[in-house]
Amino acid sequence: MLLSREIVTTILLAVASPVVAIWPIPTSITTGNTSLLINQNIAITYNGAPVVYTYGYEPDDVQDSAQIVEGGVSRALSAIFQTGLVPWKLHPKNSLDSFEPDLYSGPKWVTSLTIKQTSQDTTTTFRPKAGEVDESYNLTLSTAGAATLTAVSSTGVLRGLETFVQLFYEHTDGNAWYTPYAPVSIQDKPKYGHRGVLMDVARNWYDVKHIYRTIDAISWNKMNRLHLHATDSQSWPLEIPSMPEVATKGAYRSDLTYGADDLEALQKYAVARGVELIVEIDMPGHIGSLSWSHPELIVAYDAFPYFWWCAEPPCGAFKLNSSDVDNFLDKLFDDLLPRVAPYSAYFHMGGDELNANDSRLDPGVGTNASDVLQPLLQKFVSANLARAAAHNLSAFVWEEIPLTWNVTLNNDTVVQTWLGDSSIKTLVDQGIKVIDSNYNYWYLDCGRGQWLNFANGEAYSTYYPFNDWCDPAKNWRLVYSHDPANNLTDEEAKLVLGGEVALWSETADGTNLDTLLWPRGSAAGEVLWSGNKDPLTGQNRSQLDVSPRLNEWRERMLRRGVTAAPVQMVWCTQADNSTECSAPAGPGY
Ligand SMILES: *[C@@H]1O[C@H](CO)[C@@H](O)[C@H](O)[C@H]1NC(C)=O
Ligand SMILES: *[C@@H]1O[C@H](CO)[C@@H](O)[C@H](O)[C@H]1NC(C)=O
Ligand SMILES: *[C@@H]1O[C@H](CO)[C@@H](O)[C@H](O)[C@H]1NC(C)=O
Ligand SMILES: *[C@@H]1O[C@H](CO)[C@@H](O)[C@H](O)[C@H]1NC(C)=O
Ligand SMILES: *[C@@H]1O[C@H](CO)[C@@H](O)[C@H](O)[C@H]1NC(C)=O
Ligand SMILES: *[C@@H]1O[C@H](CO)[C@@H](O)[C@H](O)[C@H]1NC(C)=O
Ligand SMILES: *[C@@H]1O[C@H](CO)[C@@H](O)[C@H](O)[C@H]1NC(C)=O
Ligand SMILES: *[C@@H]1O[C@H](CO)[C@@H](O)[C@H](O)[C@H]1NC(C)=O
Ligand SMILES: *[C@@H]1O[C@H](CO)[C@@H](O)[C@H](O)[C@H]1NC(C)=O
Ligand SMILES: *[C@@H]1O[C@H](CO)[C@@H](O)[C@H](O)[C@H]1NC(C)=O
Ligand SMILES: *[C@@H]1O[C@H](CO)[C@@H](O)[C@H](O)[C@H]1NC(C)=O
Repeated sequence: MLLSREIVTTILLAVASPVVAIWPIPTSITTGNTSLLINQNIAITYNGAPVVYTYGYEPDDVQDSAQIVEGGVSRALSAIFQTGLVPWKLHPKNSLDSFEPDLYSGPKWVTSLTIKQTSQDTTTTFRPKAGEVDESYNLTLSTAGAATLTAVSSTGVLRGLETFVQLFYEHTDGNAWYTPYAPVSIQDKPKYGHRGVLMDVARNWYDVKHIYRTIDAISWNKMNRLHLHATDSQSWPLEIPSMPEVATKGAYRSDLTYGADDLEALQKYAVARGVELIVEIDMPGHIGSLSWSHPELIVAYDAFPYFWWCAEPPCGAFKLNSSDVDNFLDKLFDDLLPRVAPYSAYFHMGGDELNANDSRLDPGVGTNASDVLQPLLQKFVSANLARAAAHNLSAFVWEEIPLTWNVTLNNDTVVQTWLGDSSIKTLVDQGIKVIDSNYNYWYLDCGRGQWLNFANGEAYSTYYPFNDWCDPAKNWRLVYSHDPANNLTDEEAKLVLGGEVALWSETADGTNLDTLLWPRGSAAGEVLWSGNKDPLTGQNRSQLDVSPRLNEWRERMLRRGVTAAPVQMVWCTQADNSTECSAPAGPGY
């Protein structure tokens, strides 16, 4: 009797033992149960030289490896000592005492962090294509308090530092910080080279501070791309210095614009965090805002009813047979692309949702017949690809360009899919590189109801309950269930470079950005870094394993200044039985 009670107690303790909550989960990790304290006197070296850091340090030169690493160290130590996490939400009520080390019993300390980079960075490190920079790292921490971080590139050092942060907690006593997990041994590398967030700054205006904060969160999640959907038919906030009228007339308000200095500062801030900022100018559709400054280039601006001419108001597309458009694009790209190329290997030239009807209104074309439009569009896209190549940039286009319009691309062009798994398969089977943003999983704006107003006199019942087109909302579990290479052979999967979660901004701006993006973007971040399958068993990772880590990760992001949404009620995170908040099996749960 006594014996069996002891066994039950042992099982309970095992279930209750704390999870090592690192997000995204490393490729391999082993931890122990020795607690070590850490303080700001930790001796840090980078390739043998001491790293002297100050909080808030930003590199001047974002191609200087030592400066990049110093920035990473500054952020990591700030995250531990200034915005550290007391993990009360993740432990049963009144139990934190048994998790926290006793500060008065001669505890041991983390004394050093030795950072070694095994290869020199090159210019490619700071403007890589997917897979061109080795982001792997190894991290160890001995029970004697010596930490070692080894990486091939400075980008790998940044990734490892973000993991280092997550080994530590703040003590409830105040001025103390500790890890309960020594010794630690981690080996880690990403599954996909392109791990991004699409931010739409054209449907609603975002102050730059929201973009900076998003770059921070992207880097904490070991993601590496910010895709800035910079212009659309609704507004053109991106300043083009050689043609100032484009933004002053095309922006929602003449001062709600991003200057050339803003763009460069954002690009550098991103590079310093191992994030590449990719600018998109969407065309030949989605460009109606240009008609405020250059009406001669655009057809179907604000055409009525909008749904005959485009997917959402206001419509507006480039004329497809116009030398004026060609001349404008020469000027636009000669202005913008030299400012993109120092910080990115890519330029995104859009190409989604072109409605053939627009060309019916174009005096230079006058028809929507695809056999007439296809060669015009091929010429349009080829000219843009040549402009990008002339500036040493590879292009992104949306999937309709090859799939709806049969346009032939360059061999370095990457296609962004959004319409479903079969698009990915069709493209990779043609040898085309793909990143995925499948709207059924990774469109984070979906499922919050209709933003179009219905006509006066329309019965409520006609459209009740006013769903949007991509209902339902994408819960983190749905986001997590999607791997872009799910249904592909290994050979096909090689052409899938990664993916992006997308936050289209019809009903988003700085006020709800964080809660919409995080932690659901983190769920995609883990799929793209670690995969959603357990590498040992090949099985899908259990939500019972993933959800406690995501809960803690959300708390860490919150402490660091991103107001990520809650994952669950605290009851679930404090439960001492991980099955407590699991749903009964079967449909409907
Ligand atoms: C720590 O781990 C060791 C080795 O697994 C084990 O023998 C020991 O009981 C553990 N100590 C505690 C306090 O859990
Ligand atoms: C293009 O970029 C790559 C990578 O940064 C660089 O090595 C190469 O020299 C560049 N080529 C030109 C023509 O600028
Ligand atoms: C990490 O350790 C593994 C195993 O020892 C080794 O193969 C790999 O090269 C190491 N990676 C780095 C970045 O040091
Ligand atoms: C093109 O316009 C016609 C009306 O002229 C409309 O019936 C048709 O649905 C439109 N096509 C698209 C793809 O919107
Ligand atoms: C394009 O415009 C030229 C004149 O500028 C005209 O000759 C040609 O037929 C047009 N092409 C089409 C497909 O309409
Ligand atoms: C092309 O325009 C005709 C009307 O001129 C319309 O009936 C047809 O639906 C349009 N086709 C497409 C693909 O929009
Ligand atoms: C593209 O090719 C497919 C298959 O050959 C064809 O059905 C379709 O009409 C073509 N589309 C255009 C716009 O040419
Ligand atoms: C891609 O195209 C370029 C330019 O046409 C060519 O030099 C290169 O060999 C091609 N690469 C591959 C892998 O086909
Ligand atoms: C992907 O594979 C799953 C499981 O094999 C299957 O249920 C699903 O229909 C497939 N999706 C596509 C688009 O082929
Ligand atoms: C694993 O996840 C994939 C992708 O979501 C899904 O198709 C498959 O059914 C899952 N397998 C199990 C056993 O749940
Ligand atoms: C955990 O909760 C489940 C469901 O309530 C229960 O069946 C199981 O016995 C509990 N396990 C422990 C160790 O308490």
